[in-house]
Amino acid sequence: MQKAESVTHIAIIMDGNGRWAQKRLLPRSAGHRKGAEKVKEIAKEADRLGVKFLTLYAFSTENWQRPKEEVDTLMGLLREYLKSDLKELHENNVRIRFIGERDMLSADIRQSMAALERQTAKNGGLTLCFAISYGSRQEIIQAVRKAAVLVKNGDISESDIDIKSFSAMLYTKDIPEPDILIRTGGEKRISNYLLWQIAYTELFFSDTPWPDFEAKELEAVIAGFNTRERRYGKVQA
Ligand code: IPE
Ligand code: IPE
Ligand code: MG
Repeated sequence: MQKAESVTHIAIIMDGNGRWAQKRLLPRSAGHRKGAEKVKEIAKEADRLGVKFLTLYAFSTENWQRPKEEVDTLMGLLREYLKSDLKELHENNVRIRFIGERDMLSADIRQSMAALERQTAKNGGLTLCFAISYGSRQEIIQAVRKAAVLVKNGDISESDIDIKSFSAMLYTKDIPEPDILIRTGGEKRISNYLLWQIAYTELFFSDTPWPDFEAKELEAVIAGFNTRERRYGKVQA
C-alpha cells in the first residue's frame, strides 16, 4: 500500500459524469447519480491513506448556466446526499465543510450544510470539503472587497495585505494548500477551481470519467506524486 505520508491535501475536479452516462445511452442524470455514489468510496480511501483534507469540486458557479432540468437534478441529488450519505461519513469521524457562494443555493440546502458543518466540526478524521456553487475568481474578488473595506475603515493598512493575510480572506482560510490536484474525465483545464491555492500544487489529469474512478487510481496518483520533486522555484539541494 502506498502510504500518503507527504500528502496532506488532495483536491479533485470530479468531471466526466455526463459523458459517462451518454456513452451508455443513459440520461446525464444517471452519471451524476453514479458520481455522487463515488464520493463515499474515494473519501474513505483518502482517509485510509492518511490524507487529512479532500476538497471536491461538485458544482461550479458557471454550472448554474446549464439547462434548468440538469441544475434541478443536481440540486436534488445534493439534497438527498446531505440527508443520507454524509451521516455515514460523520460516523466515520469525517469533518464536513463547504466552500462557495451559498446565497445562490436554496434555503433548505443552506440549512442542511450549516447543520452538517456544526455536527461534524469536532470530528478528528478526514476533512471533506465540497466546493458547491464555487468559482475561484469570485472567491478572490470577495477577498479583495473584504480587504478594501478593512483598508477604507482604517483597520489595516495597504501593506498589511500580503500572501498570508490575503489567503485568510478566502473561503479556504483554515485549509492548507493542495499538494495534489486531480482532474478526471479527460479535460486538461482548471475550470475556475482554487486558482490561488494551486500555485505550487502537483497536477494530475486522468482520462477516467469520475463515475469509474477507483481507489487504486488514487493510490497510483499518490505513488506518482511521491516521485516528483517540488522545487518551489529553487534549485535542487
Ligand atoms: C461533472 O460532470 C459534474 C458537474 C460539473 C456538475 P459533467 O456534468 O461536467 O460531465 P461531462 O463533463 O459533461 O461529461
Ligand atoms: C468543472 O467541470 C466543474 C465541476 C466538475 C464541478 P465542468 O464540466 O463544468 O468544466 P468545463 O465546462 O468542462 O470547463
Ligand atoms: Mg464536465
